[in-house]
Amino acid sequence: MKQNLLDLFQRRHACHLFQADKALAPEDLDFILEAGRLSPSSFGLEQWKFLVLTQSADKQALQQACFDQPQVGSASAVVVILARIADMDPDSPHLRRLMAREYPDPAALEGALKNYRDFHAATDVAAWSSAQCHIAAANMMTAAAGIGLDSCAIGGFLPDRVCALLNIDPARELPALILPLGFCAHEGGEKQRLALDEIAEYR
Ligand SMILES: Cc1cc2nc3c(=O)[nH]c(=O)nc-3n(C[C@H](O)[C@H](O)[C@H](O)COP(=O)(O)O)c2cc1C
Repeated sequence: MKQNLLDLFQRRHACHLFQADKALAPEDLDFILEAGRLSPSSFGLEQWKFLVLTQSADKQALQQACFDQPQVGSASAVVVILARIADMDPDSPHLRRLMAREYPDPAALEGALKNYRDFHAATDVAAWSSAQCHIAAANMMTAAAGIGLDSCAIGGFLPDRVCALLNIDPARELPALILPLGFCAHEGGEKQRLALDEIAEYR
């Protein structure tokens, strides 16, 4: 099991060009999205939304908003991970609904909402929400690798252009990360990572 997981982490690599003519099986796409859905998140608030593009014209247009990176247009599917902003407002019905899952008792819910209100006021909500989306993205990339598919996290995009293209209201949601998926057209290179003793310290 340990070795299988390590092999998976070794196998996953950033794919810079996909085989554009290949489609993803719908059940494989669902499997990857499910890995994102089951991800952990701060307060359990699932700050993400997954916008899935499979049409060639949509992917090509999105590539233009991503500094013309060819892995976007050539991917079989592109998941645009949106960070929820307005839904994280302490007064939003969505927020209340999600908090009530953990605090079904009305008095406990009000207490939790009061604490959350303080947290929210002191937090950069876009950065916080986006951080949760990155956790979901990591799980989706690992899941993709687990079924022999490739991916590339794309942080290189122009948020304003992505919002305009996809008709996203930036007051409600912001693109956190773009995740092209498919069949890579090249091999992954050797993993470049610092040694464990350079990054981990036991105290
Ligand atoms: C948040 C984030 C943003 C990234 N943005 C891009 C990007 O815009 N374009 C790109 O080609 N790779 C991008 N990458 C991929 C990294 O360059 C890559 O993961 C890193 O170089 C390590 O290589 P590996 O994934 O093949 O192990 C991004 C990765 C992360 C985690």
